Amino acid sequence: MDGKKVMLSGIQPSGDLHLGNYLGPLRHWPEMIEEFDCYFFMADLHTITVRQDPAQLRKRTLTQIAQYIACGLDPEKCVLFVQSHVPAHTQLSWVLNCYTMFGELNRMTQFKDKSAKHAENVNAGLFTYPVLMAADILIYQPDFVPVGEDQKQHVEICRDIAERFNGVYGDVFRVPEPYIAKVGARIMSLNTPDTKMSKSLHEGCVFLMEKPEDIMRKFKRAVTDSDTERCVRYAPAEKPGVSNLMQIYAAATGKTYEDIEAEFAGQGYGKFKPAVGEAVAETLRPIREETERLLADKAYLESVYRAGAEKASYAAEKTLRKVYKKVGFIAR
Ligand code: TRP
Repeated sequence: MDGKKVMLSGIQPSGDLHLGNYLGPLRHWPEMIEEFDCYFFMADLHTITVRQDPAQLRKRTLTQIAQYIACGLDPEKCVLFVQSHVPAHTQLSWVLNCYTMFGELNRMTQFKDKSAKHAENVNAGLFTYPVLMAADILIYQPDFVPVGEDQKQHVEICRDIAERFNGVYGDVFRVPEPYIAKVGARIMSLNTPDTKMSKSLHEGCVFLMEKPEDIMRKFKRAVTDSDTERCVRYAPAEKPGVSNLMQIYAAATGKTYEDIEAEFAGQGYGKFKPAVGEAVAETLRPIREETERLLADKAYLESVYRAGAEKASYAAEKTLRKVYKKVGFIAR
Protein backbone atom coordinates (compact mmCIF):
# COMPACT_ATOMS: atom_id res chain seq x y z
CA MET A 1 0.00 0.00 0.00
CA ASP A 2 1.09 3.60 0.22
CA GLY A 3 3.26 4.22 3.25
CA LYS A 4 0.45 4.97 5.70
CA LYS A 5 0.47 3.16 9.03
CA VAL A 6 -1.45 -0.11 8.98
CA MET A 7 -4.39 -0.81 11.26
CA LEU A 8 -6.45 -3.96 11.58
CA SER A 9 -9.61 -5.04 13.29
CA GLY A 10 -11.72 -8.18 13.34
CA ILE A 11 -15.36 -8.30 14.31
CA GLN A 12 -17.20 -11.46 15.22
CA PRO A 13 -20.43 -11.80 13.27
CA SER A 14 -22.01 -13.51 16.26
CA GLY A 15 -24.65 -10.93 17.05
CA ASP A 16 -26.45 -8.01 15.50
CA LEU A 17 -24.70 -4.66 15.65
CA HIS A 18 -26.20 -2.17 18.05
CA LEU A 19 -26.10 1.48 19.02
CA GLY A 20 -23.22 0.90 21.46
CA ASN A 21 -21.08 -0.50 18.64
CA TYR A 22 -22.04 2.38 16.42
CA LEU A 23 -21.61 5.34 18.78
CA GLY A 24 -18.46 3.72 20.21
CA PRO A 25 -15.90 2.61 17.63
CA LEU A 26 -17.81 2.13 14.40
CA ARG A 27 -18.82 5.73 13.82
CA HIS A 28 -15.18 6.79 13.76
CA TRP A 29 -13.93 4.19 11.33
CA PRO A 30 -14.60 6.26 8.22
CA GLU A 31 -12.14 8.86 9.61
CA MET A 32 -9.63 6.11 10.35
CA ILE A 33 -9.56 4.76 6.84
CA GLU A 34 -8.39 8.18 5.68
CA GLU A 35 -5.52 8.13 8.13
CA PHE A 36 -4.46 4.46 8.04
CA ASP A 37 -4.34 1.54 5.68
CA CYS A 38 -7.10 -0.51 7.28
CA TYR A 39 -8.01 -4.17 7.21
CA PHE A 40 -11.45 -5.07 8.55
CA PHE A 41 -12.64 -8.62 8.59
CA MET A 42 -15.58 -10.66 9.76
CA ALA A 43 -14.06 -13.13 12.25
CA ASP A 44 -16.29 -16.06 11.32
CA LEU A 45 -13.65 -18.62 12.32
CA HIS A 46 -13.72 -17.31 15.86
CA THR A 47 -17.50 -17.52 16.17
CA ILE A 48 -17.60 -21.32 15.92
CA THR A 49 -15.74 -21.69 19.21
CA VAL A 50 -19.29 -21.56 20.50
CA ARG A 51 -22.13 -23.26 18.64
CA GLN A 52 -23.66 -21.26 15.82
CA ASP A 53 -26.68 -21.80 13.68
CA PRO A 54 -25.17 -22.09 10.16
CA ALA A 55 -27.90 -20.16 8.32
CA GLN A 56 -27.82 -17.41 10.94
CA LEU A 57 -24.04 -17.17 10.78
CA ARG A 58 -24.11 -16.74 7.00
CA LYS A 59 -26.81 -14.13 7.24
CA ARG A 60 -25.10 -12.17 9.98
CA THR A 61 -21.76 -12.20 8.21
CA LEU A 62 -23.30 -10.77 5.08
CA THR A 63 -25.42 -8.29 7.02
CA GLN A 64 -22.38 -7.06 8.89
CA ILE A 65 -20.44 -6.44 5.72
CA ALA A 66 -23.40 -4.46 4.40
CA GLN A 67 -23.67 -2.53 7.66
CA TYR A 68 -20.02 -1.55 7.63
CA ILE A 69 -20.34 -0.23 4.13
CA ALA A 70 -23.55 1.56 5.11
CA CYS A 71 -21.74 3.14 8.08
CA GLY A 72 -19.27 4.68 5.69
CA LEU A 73 -16.50 2.12 5.24
CA ASP A 74 -15.84 2.62 1.57
CA PRO A 75 -14.54 -0.76 0.29
CA GLU A 76 -12.41 1.11 -2.22
CA LYS A 77 -10.53 2.75 0.63
CA CYS A 78 -10.02 -0.18 2.99
CA VAL A 79 -9.74 -3.94 2.82
CA LEU A 80 -13.02 -5.54 3.85
CA PHE A 81 -13.12 -9.33 3.91
CA VAL A 82 -14.22 -12.56 5.54
CA GLN A 83 -11.63 -14.29 7.73
CA SER A 84 -12.36 -17.81 6.44
CA HIS A 85 -11.72 -16.62 2.87
CA VAL A 86 -8.04 -16.12 3.64
CA PRO A 87 -6.66 -19.53 4.65
CA ALA A 88 -3.27 -18.04 5.57
CA HIS A 89 -4.78 -16.99 8.94
CA THR A 90 -5.31 -20.60 9.99
CA GLN A 91 -2.02 -21.68 8.47
CA LEU A 92 -0.09 -19.13 10.49
CA SER A 93 -2.18 -19.97 13.50
CA TRP A 94 -0.85 -23.56 13.47
CA VAL A 95 2.74 -22.34 13.45
CA LEU A 96 2.05 -19.88 16.26
CA ASN A 97 0.41 -22.64 18.29
CA CYS A 98 3.85 -24.14 18.54
CA TYR A 99 5.22 -20.88 19.94
CA THR A 100 2.50 -20.35 22.52
CA MET A 101 2.62 -21.95 25.93
CA PHE A 102 -0.19 -23.96 27.43
CA GLY A 103 0.13 -22.03 30.68
CA GLU A 104 -0.18 -18.72 28.87
CA LEU A 105 -3.46 -19.70 27.27
CA ASN A 106 -4.70 -21.21 30.48
CA ARG A 107 -4.42 -17.83 32.17
CA MET A 108 -6.59 -15.96 29.66
CA THR A 109 -9.59 -14.48 31.42
CA GLN A 110 -11.85 -14.83 28.39
CA PHE A 111 -11.11 -18.57 28.24
CA LYS A 112 -12.00 -18.94 31.90
CA ASP A 113 -15.20 -16.93 31.47
CA LYS A 114 -16.30 -18.71 28.31
CA SER A 115 -15.56 -22.19 29.59
CA ALA A 116 -17.64 -21.43 32.66
CA LYS A 117 -20.44 -20.12 30.46
CA HIS A 118 -20.31 -23.00 27.96
CA ALA A 119 -19.33 -25.80 30.32
CA GLU A 120 -20.82 -28.42 27.97
CA ASN A 121 -18.52 -27.34 25.11
CA VAL A 122 -15.05 -26.44 26.36
CA ASN A 123 -13.38 -27.21 23.05
CA ALA A 124 -9.76 -26.80 21.96
CA GLY A 125 -10.74 -23.93 19.67
CA LEU A 126 -11.93 -21.93 22.64
CA PHE A 127 -8.55 -22.55 24.23
CA THR A 128 -6.45 -21.60 21.20
CA TYR A 129 -8.71 -18.70 20.22
CA PRO A 130 -6.03 -16.13 21.16
CA VAL A 131 -3.51 -17.83 18.89
CA LEU A 132 -5.77 -17.52 15.87
CA MET A 133 -6.33 -13.91 16.82
CA ALA A 134 -2.57 -13.37 17.04
CA ALA A 135 -2.24 -14.89 13.57
CA ASP A 136 -5.04 -12.61 12.26
CA ILE A 137 -3.07 -9.66 13.49
CA LEU A 138 0.56 -10.54 12.86
CA ILE A 139 -0.02 -11.75 9.33
CA TYR A 140 -0.77 -8.16 8.16
CA GLN A 141 2.18 -6.58 10.00
CA PRO A 142 -0.03 -3.82 11.40
CA ASP A 143 1.21 -0.89 13.45
CA PHE A 144 -1.99 -0.65 15.47
CA VAL A 145 -4.87 -2.79 16.64
CA PRO A 146 -7.82 -0.90 18.10
CA VAL A 147 -8.89 -2.56 21.30
CA GLY A 148 -11.74 -2.44 23.71
CA GLU A 149 -11.19 -3.37 27.34
CA ASP A 150 -12.29 -6.97 26.76
CA GLN A 151 -9.70 -7.59 24.03
CA LYS A 152 -6.66 -6.00 25.67
CA GLN A 153 -5.32 -9.27 27.03
CA HIS A 154 -5.55 -10.82 23.56
CA VAL A 155 -3.41 -8.07 22.08
CA GLU A 156 -0.93 -8.51 24.93
CA ILE A 157 -0.53 -12.23 24.26
CA CYS A 158 -0.22 -11.48 20.55
CA ARG A 159 2.69 -9.17 21.31
CA ASP A 160 4.27 -11.83 23.56
CA ILE A 161 4.01 -14.45 20.82
CA ALA A 162 5.48 -12.07 18.23
CA GLU A 163 8.38 -11.17 20.48
CA ARG A 164 9.07 -14.79 21.27
CA PHE A 165 9.07 -15.70 17.58
CA ASN A 166 11.22 -12.71 16.66
CA GLY A 167 13.59 -13.63 19.47
CA VAL A 168 14.29 -16.94 17.75
CA TYR A 169 14.17 -15.95 14.06
CA GLY A 170 14.93 -12.24 13.87
CA ASP A 171 12.46 -9.50 13.00
CA VAL A 172 9.75 -11.46 11.24
CA PHE A 173 6.73 -9.77 12.79
CA ARG A 174 6.03 -6.15 13.52
CA VAL A 175 4.93 -6.00 17.16
CA PRO A 176 1.69 -3.99 17.06
CA GLU A 177 0.62 -1.36 19.57
CA PRO A 178 -2.88 -1.36 20.98
CA TYR A 179 -4.73 1.67 19.65
CA ILE A 180 -6.84 3.50 22.15
CA ALA A 181 -9.44 5.54 20.31
CA LYS A 182 -9.28 9.26 21.08
CA VAL A 183 -13.02 9.54 20.83
CA GLY A 184 -15.92 7.14 21.14
CA ALA A 185 -18.67 6.91 23.68
CA ARG A 186 -19.24 4.08 26.12
CA ILE A 187 -22.96 3.51 25.81
CA MET A 188 -24.77 1.76 28.63
CA SER A 189 -27.87 -0.43 28.58
CA LEU A 190 -31.14 1.52 28.53
CA ASN A 191 -32.70 -0.46 31.34
CA THR A 192 -29.63 -1.29 33.43
CA PRO A 193 -27.42 1.79 32.99
CA ASP A 194 -24.67 0.36 35.17
CA THR A 195 -23.83 -2.26 32.50
CA LYS A 196 -22.58 -1.72 28.98
CA MET A 197 -25.14 -1.91 26.17
CA SER A 198 -25.01 -5.47 24.91
CA LYS A 199 -27.01 -7.67 22.60
CA SER A 200 -27.62 -10.14 25.41
CA LEU A 201 -29.55 -7.49 27.38
CA HIS A 202 -32.13 -7.30 24.66
CA GLU A 203 -34.61 -4.76 25.98
CA GLY A 204 -31.91 -2.30 26.92
CA CYS A 205 -30.21 -2.60 23.55
CA VAL A 206 -31.05 -0.75 20.34
CA PHE A 207 -30.05 -2.63 17.21
CA LEU A 208 -28.93 -0.87 14.05
CA MET A 209 -31.60 -2.62 12.00
CA GLU A 210 -34.43 -1.87 14.40
CA LYS A 211 -37.51 -0.03 13.17
CA PRO A 212 -38.23 3.51 14.44
CA GLU A 213 -41.32 2.42 16.39
CA ASP A 214 -39.34 -0.23 18.28
CA ILE A 215 -36.57 2.25 18.95
CA MET A 216 -39.11 4.72 20.33
CA ARG A 217 -40.63 2.07 22.57
CA LYS A 218 -37.24 1.16 24.04
CA PHE A 219 -36.37 4.79 24.74
CA LYS A 220 -39.74 5.54 26.30
CA ARG A 221 -39.13 2.67 28.69
CA ALA A 222 -35.52 3.60 29.38
CA VAL A 223 -34.63 3.69 33.05
CA THR A 224 -34.15 7.17 34.41
CA ASP A 225 -33.00 7.66 37.90
CA SER A 226 -34.86 7.51 41.14
CA ASP A 227 -33.43 10.78 42.39
CA THR A 228 -35.91 13.39 43.54
CA GLU A 229 -34.59 16.16 41.34
CA ARG A 230 -36.23 14.80 38.13
CA CYS A 231 -34.30 17.07 35.83
CA VAL A 232 -32.09 16.49 32.84
CA ARG A 233 -28.59 17.02 34.20
CA TYR A 234 -25.32 15.31 33.35
CA ALA A 235 -24.03 13.54 36.48
CA PRO A 236 -22.89 9.99 35.64
CA ALA A 237 -22.30 8.89 39.24
CA GLU A 238 -25.61 10.11 40.69
CA LYS A 239 -27.75 9.85 37.57
CA PRO A 240 -26.37 7.04 35.38
CA GLY A 241 -29.60 6.51 33.43
CA VAL A 242 -30.19 10.14 32.48
CA SER A 243 -26.50 10.72 31.84
CA ASN A 244 -26.38 7.75 29.49
CA LEU A 245 -29.38 9.11 27.58
CA MET A 246 -27.69 12.51 27.42
CA GLN A 247 -24.56 10.89 26.07
CA ILE A 248 -26.58 9.17 23.37
CA TYR A 249 -28.49 12.36 22.53
CA ALA A 250 -25.25 14.35 22.38
CA ALA A 251 -23.65 11.79 20.07
CA ALA A 252 -26.71 11.63 17.82
CA THR A 253 -27.26 15.39 17.54
CA GLY A 254 -23.84 16.95 18.13
CA LYS A 255 -25.26 19.01 21.01
CA THR A 256 -23.28 19.65 24.18
CA TYR A 257 -24.48 18.66 27.64
CA GLU A 258 -25.13 22.34 28.43
CA ASP A 259 -27.29 22.66 25.30
CA ILE A 260 -29.26 19.60 26.34
CA GLU A 261 -29.73 20.74 29.92
CA ALA A 262 -31.02 24.09 28.65
CA GLU A 263 -33.29 22.45 26.08
CA PHE A 264 -35.09 20.33 28.71
CA ALA A 265 -34.86 22.68 31.69
CA GLY A 266 -37.88 22.38 33.94
CA GLN A 267 -39.49 19.61 31.89
CA GLY A 268 -38.77 16.40 33.80
CA TYR A 269 -38.06 13.29 31.76
CA GLY A 270 -41.34 12.98 29.86
CA LYS A 271 -40.26 14.98 26.83
CA PHE A 272 -36.61 14.06 27.02
CA LYS A 273 -36.87 10.30 26.50
CA PRO A 274 -38.89 10.39 23.25
CA ALA A 275 -36.62 13.18 21.97
CA VAL A 276 -33.61 10.89 22.41
CA GLY A 277 -35.52 8.07 20.73
CA GLU A 278 -36.35 10.25 17.76
CA ALA A 279 -32.79 11.48 17.39
CA VAL A 280 -31.51 7.91 17.44
CA ALA A 281 -34.15 6.68 15.00
CA GLU A 282 -33.17 9.50 12.61
CA THR A 283 -29.46 8.72 12.98
CA LEU A 284 -30.00 5.05 12.27
CA ARG A 285 -32.55 5.41 9.49
CA PRO A 286 -30.10 6.06 6.61
CA ILE A 287 -27.84 3.23 7.83
CA ARG A 288 -30.71 0.77 7.98
CA GLU A 289 -32.03 1.81 4.57
CA GLU A 290 -28.60 1.61 2.95
CA THR A 291 -27.96 -1.79 4.57
CA GLU A 292 -31.26 -3.08 3.19
CA ARG A 293 -30.43 -1.73 -0.25
CA LEU A 294 -27.00 -3.41 -0.18
CA LEU A 295 -28.42 -6.71 1.06
CA ALA A 296 -30.71 -6.73 -1.96
CA ASP A 297 -27.64 -6.43 -4.19
CA LYS A 298 -25.89 -9.73 -3.50
CA ALA A 299 -23.70 -9.46 -6.58
CA TYR A 300 -22.21 -6.20 -5.33
CA LEU A 301 -21.55 -7.58 -1.84
CA GLU A 302 -19.89 -10.63 -3.37
CA SER A 303 -17.67 -8.43 -5.46
CA VAL A 304 -16.66 -6.50 -2.33
CA TYR A 305 -15.69 -9.50 -0.21
CA ARG A 306 -13.98 -11.26 -3.11
CA ALA A 307 -11.84 -8.25 -3.91
CA GLY A 308 -11.16 -7.85 -0.17
CA ALA A 309 -10.03 -11.47 0.19
CA GLU A 310 -7.76 -11.09 -2.79
CA LYS A 311 -6.04 -7.99 -1.44
CA ALA A 312 -5.79 -9.51 2.03
CA SER A 313 -4.39 -12.80 0.71
CA TYR A 314 -1.66 -10.98 -1.14
CA ALA A 315 -0.37 -9.36 2.05
CA ALA A 316 -1.03 -12.41 4.25
CA GLU A 317 0.74 -14.91 2.02
CA LYS A 318 3.83 -12.76 1.94
CA THR A 319 4.15 -13.02 5.73
CA LEU A 320 3.27 -16.71 5.71
CA ARG A 321 6.01 -17.51 3.16
CA LYS A 322 8.53 -15.72 5.32
CA VAL A 323 7.44 -17.61 8.43
CA TYR A 324 7.48 -21.00 6.67
CA LYS A 325 10.97 -20.31 5.43
CA LYS A 326 12.21 -19.23 8.85
CA VAL A 327 10.94 -22.34 10.62
CA GLY A 328 12.48 -24.60 7.97
CA PHE A 329 9.71 -25.69 5.60
CA ILE A 330 10.74 -26.33 1.99
CA ALA A 331 9.23 -23.79 -0.41
CA ARG A 332 6.59 -25.30 -2.69
N1 TRP B 1 -11.69 -11.46 19.34
C1 TRP B 1 -12.23 -10.26 18.76
C2 TRP B 1 -13.57 -9.96 19.42
O1 TRP B 1 -14.24 -10.84 19.88
C3 TRP B 1 -12.44 -10.42 17.27
C4 TRP B 1 -11.14 -10.60 16.57
C5 TRP B 1 -10.72 -11.74 15.96
C6 TRP B 1 -10.14 -9.61 16.39
N2 TRP B 1 -9.49 -11.53 15.40
C7 TRP B 1 -9.11 -10.23 15.64
C8 TRP B 1 -10.02 -8.26 16.79
C9 TRP B 1 -7.95 -9.54 15.33
C10 TRP B 1 -8.86 -7.57 16.46
C11 TRP B 1 -7.84 -8.22 15.72
O2 TRP B 1 -13.96 -8.81 19.45
